[in-house]
Amino acid sequence: MPHPLDDPAVLAAPFADVLQSMHAGQPQLGSDGRRHMIDDTTRISEDEGMTLFRLGVEAEVAATLEVGLAYGFSTAYLLAALHHNGGGSHTAIDPYQDTDWSGIGLTTAIALVTTATALTTDSFTLIPERSDPALIDLARTGRTFDLTFIDGYHRFDDVLVDFTLAARMCPIGGLIVLHDMWLDSIAAVASFLRRNRADFAEIATGCDNLFAVRRVDEDRRNWDHFVAFPLR
Ligand SMILES: C[S@@+](CC[C@H](N)C(=O)[O-])C[C@H]1O[C@@H](n2cnc3c(N)ncnc32)[C@H](O)[C@@H]1O
Repeated sequence: MPHPLDDPAVLAAPFADVLQSMHAGQPQLGSDGRRHMIDDTTRISEDEGMTLFRLGVEAEVAATLEVGLAYGFSTAYLLAALHHNGGGSHTAIDPYQDTDWSGIGLTTAIALVTTATALTTDSFTLIPERSDPALIDLARTGRTFDLTFIDGYHRFDDVLVDFTLAARMCPIGGLIVLHDMWLDSIAAVASFLRRNRADFAEIATGCDNLFAVRRVDEDRRNWDHFVAFPLR
């Protein structure tokens, strides 16, 4: 039996309306004030989005972080979770928002935080940089994030770096979610984490394409710790 929080009908009106239009592939408003066609692959699915929303609601997140904004599908689900929880802030990192995505993700996020009653213009920040320097800078500020969604550059080493840096800002009880487990690169990161990061425990999401972990401890590995891991 599906969880009630997995039903898109639970989303508040501005999120439901925007996501319905986006998932239908309708042209979306860009930062130039015009509508642009969107491709049909750069997105999380509705099931994955509702899973992110549910994880965010169940964990009562107030501060969320994301690598990879693009058109803003995942951002809209995460903002919906913050709204459902009574407010909070979402930070998205993406160096190519203007060049590759016509500013659609940014425009959509601003429209949502302006419309949703529990959110404000301070509820969304875009860091228009590569994730590696951006995550290091964020970590230096001492900020923590209750949920981090990693969906940026999908190479094994880039994703492992994203996770390693995001983990430093993940409090005990916080969540980190990887997208695109169908790719060997992401599955290999998940396999490494399962066998090497005992400070994170895997959570069953019901979504094969998502890998989610919860921080359960400090990182207590020795300097030379390494457990060999299979690809999947
Ligand atoms: C698959 S898309 C993200 C889709 C988005 N999560 C959604 O559901 O709508 C991947 C995104 O990662 C961004 N990206 C690529 N390299 C990156 C990097 N080094 N750091 C941060 N973002 C990056 C791309 O510009 C693109 O927007």
